[in-house]
Amino acid sequence: MAVCLLLSLGLSACFEPIKDTHPDQVLTKRRALFKQTTRAMEPIGLMASGRKEFKQDELLALVQELEKLSDKPWAYFPADGNYPPTHAKPAVWSQPDAFKQAQENYQASVHALLLAAQAGKVEPVQRAVDAVTNSCKACHRDFRYE
Ligand code: HEC
Repeated sequence: MAVCLLLSLGLSACFEPIKDTHPDQVLTKRRALFKQTTRAMEPIGLMASGRKEFKQDELLALVQELEKLSDKPWAYFPADGNYPPTHAKPAVWSQPDAFKQAQENYQASVHALLLAAQAGKVEPVQRAVDAVTNSCKACHRDFRYE
């Protein structure tokens, strides 16, 4: 609080961590994993679209990171994990099979991207990146509020 006050004197935005009421902080943990996922995905997207130089070794390292993260967030949606300020839709808990399917589709798209990154050809990488982006979006459309 004191730090927050001090900072707010000099800065327009004051960093305030979310209040996570769960004993295992599952909301904080899954959000941190989605942020790491986004941090890996952004430069991958830039390389695929030509806005960043295509370097196979860099791409591969990022995709390996993305794959390592791809099965991690799901453990942090336990039965008692639906509480504010989550943006997850109730469907995560009421339609577990569909949620699981969306995870599997996503993980399969990430694995296909890994194979494309290993092969190192730009066009297949672009298509695989599009497929990953679409599987993020598909899950968000069904299971996350904007
Ligand atoms: C199987 C479903 C699913 C997939 C696949 C998925 N997400 Fe999400 N994502 C969610 C859900 C559900 C939330 C809401 C979490 C919450 O607020 O409790 C979320 C939240 C997020 C957030 C917000 C985190 C925050 O701090 O509030 C980001 C960013 C994000 N996802 C990025 C991605 C990216 C990038 C991908 C693909 C590379 C992806 N997600 C794939 C379900 C998914």
